[in-house]
Amino acid sequence: MEMNIALLPGDGIGPEVIAQAVKVVKAVGQKFGHEISFKEGVVGAAAIDATGDPYPDATHEICAAADAVLFGAIGDPKYDNDPKAKVRPEQGLLRMRQKLGLFANVRPTFTFPSLVHKSPLKLERVEGVDFVFFRELTGGVYFGEPRGRNEQGTKAFDTNVYSKEEIVRLARMGFEAAQKRRKVLTCVDKANVMATSRLWRETVQELAAEYPDVKVEYEFVDAVAMRLIQWPKAYDVLITENLFGDILTDEASVISGSMGLMPSASLGSNVKLFEPIHGSYPQAAGKDIANPLATVLSAAMMFEYAFDMKEEAKAISDVVNLSLAEGVVTEDIAEGGKAYKTSEVGDWLAAKILG
Ligand code: IPM
Ligand code: MG
Repeated sequence: MEMNIALLPGDGIGPEVIAQAVKVVKAVGQKFGHEISFKEGVVGAAAIDATGDPYPDATHEICAAADAVLFGAIGDPKYDNDPKAKVRPEQGLLRMRQKLGLFANVRPTFTFPSLVHKSPLKLERVEGVDFVFFRELTGGVYFGEPRGRNEQGTKAFDTNVYSKEEIVRLARMGFEAAQKRRKVLTCVDKANVMATSRLWRETVQELAAEYPDVKVEYEFVDAVAMRLIQWPKAYDVLITENLFGDILTDEASVISGSMGLMPSASLGSNVKLFEPIHGSYPQAAGKDIANPLATVLSAAMMFEYAFDMKEEAKAISDVVNLSLAEGVVTEDIAEGGKAYKTSEVGDWLAAKILG
């Protein structure tokens, strides 16, 4: 099969981790006989530096014409500490999601037996945790209008807005995923306070009738923030709005003890996007020390979700598991053992796939 992949390395450690994913994807292509071509585009702070725009039209064209997008990371400290900056790297990411129609962000949390002791939670709480968030990605308060300040600049406002249609399409993905898993869906909202949340709950209640095999639970977001660390095994599939999902998926990503390992997929249109959950980790940029495994596992998700190639996806997750078992890992998880360089881990994984 012919596959066209857009590469958006982005900022910080993005280019380094994407380079390892590319080695692995190429190895999979060689082993399974797929013709894979790559086209690279700039995004984020790197794109602002190059063009003044964090998501230039040229990059959008590359993404829109691709079968899938592999994305590194976005963000640069020089913008974080300047609230007055007119253009921000993050705007590029939001615009990209919106223009590509990527309304669902799928963020799994699962554990690796060899790393589970690194979890901030007690072993018995975290062993066997396996849940997945479906975060709404192109609506809510991140996009709602009006937004801004009053004339004096002394008041600021954002608008949270959801249409029924936006909720239905995200919720259906959650229901369908639950049907293929343990058949429990949790709708996370703040329906005791917010009108948007009441529409979410009402809409999910209506849809539930179409999925009688799925048990639906409704929980308030503040309670979920607590229960996620208290009883993470209680969850299977969680659906939620953009802002709640942003916050809770960061919380969820450290539960397994290895944020450097958690991949994600953004779905909704013909082009699907895959990216590690971690950020641009600017302190490590260019040092060849960042953990590339989350990006490599994002490439595995790409084979499964974008190309329906389960064997190829499994070939990648198998070698990742092997690298963990054999200690071919970067310094963040080396634990006194040898710390491999980012590029060495990528070379090792690619060689194992072919070997
Ligand atoms: C994420 C990130 C982004 C978001 C930022 C960088 C805009 O935190 O993907 O979760 O808030 O969606
Ligand atoms: Mg986030």
